[in-house]
Amino acid sequence: MTDGPRYRIATIPGDGVGPEVVAAARRVLDATGERFGFAIDWSEHAAGGNAIDAYGVAIRDEDVAACGAADAILLGAVGGPRWDNPTSPVRPEQALFKLRGTLGLFANLRPVAVNPLIAASAAPVRPELLEGVDLLIVRELTGGLYFGDRVEATGPVGERHASDQLPYSEPEIRRVVRLAFELARGRRGRLTSVDKANVLATSRLWRTVVEELRPEYPDVEVGHQLVDSCAMLLIKQPAWFDVLVTENLFGDILSDEAGVLAGSLGMLPSASLGERKTAHGTFGLYEPIHGSAPDIAGQDRANPIGTILSSAMLLRLSLGRTDAATAVEAAVTATLGAGYRTGDLAGAGERDSLRVVGTTAFADAVVAALVAGAPEGVPA
Ligand code: IPM
Ligand code: MG
Repeated sequence: MTDGPRYRIATIPGDGVGPEVVAAARRVLDATGERFGFAIDWSEHAAGGNAIDAYGVAIRDEDVAACGAADAILLGAVGGPRWDNPTSPVRPEQALFKLRGTLGLFANLRPVAVNPLIAASAAPVRPELLEGVDLLIVRELTGGLYFGDRVEATGPVGERHASDQLPYSEPEIRRVVRLAFELARGRRGRLTSVDKANVLATSRLWRTVVEELRPEYPDVEVGHQLVDSCAMLLIKQPAWFDVLVTENLFGDILSDEAGVLAGSLGMLPSASLGERKTAHGTFGLYEPIHGSAPDIAGQDRANPIGTILSSAMLLRLSLGRTDAATAVEAAVTATLGAGYRTGDLAGAGERDSLRVVGTTAFADAVVAALVAGAPEGVPA
């Protein structure tokens, strides 16, 4: 027991490998608390396919409310083939939209940094292109096509018609673009706003808002990219990018694309932030980028790094624990440096020289590195 601060974290293990990676990150966070003298009060909530089975909805209102009352949420993944019918009125991903919408989580931060230990072997992109890649995608998360009016297909077969609206208001654009400016200011000072202003009215408004904010950030170099050419440049010259800011659907697509640069989607963390402040930072939801990977669920094979690094973001952004966040990132780097890999990170030719382990053993190694006191101040 500790006399230090107590933080409240709501967990949503979810479906597939979600419970395994959340359990791994939870152990790492508890170990961090022991080392740095704080305690975590955990709560657990059902969402996704398991909630549909148990309660008939993707997430219950009381679980959304309980999650919203915590300091932060740690989520695994939702979904799986059992609940895959796209015409069903109840679907696992509705839990994500409900959490994002109800809790006002309008900004999704997806950092992509290339770890040289992984890049050379696991990434499908030529290693020389990956040198120095360290970018941050800021995706608008509660507007656009995801939340616009939708009309499902109607009419006789052969002439059916459906529509999805893409609305954006100026305040919705301004708050996420402002956050991206602030983040760029704390990094390398380069902001790329991504749109389709040669076609879409919402993109033209987006560009206008970026230009109107520009004078407030003279220290940030701002550029505009059309989303199609941006998709190309992300592979051709990824190291050029620093912070990218874009609307909901473009951000969804570009962040999966950028994930390829890291070698495995299993490596990547994310944070979804709103306006509400906690006692120590900003309330947020943290989750790995990867999905529920039902093909390997329950086999102790999932890569927990994305979730563990998400918990480092949680420590930094929602709990204000920079010390602990840096230690978690350093412990992950030390664990990789010691040769530990989950199966997705080990190429066939190098398995003999690496320690290929399961989810639990990888988390054990991170916890051991934490307890041993991985060097602080060494960024992952
Ligand atoms: C993501 C996911 C979700 C999204 C899906 C599961 C609805 O792809 O978080 O990127 O599109 O937002
Ligand atoms: Mg996605």
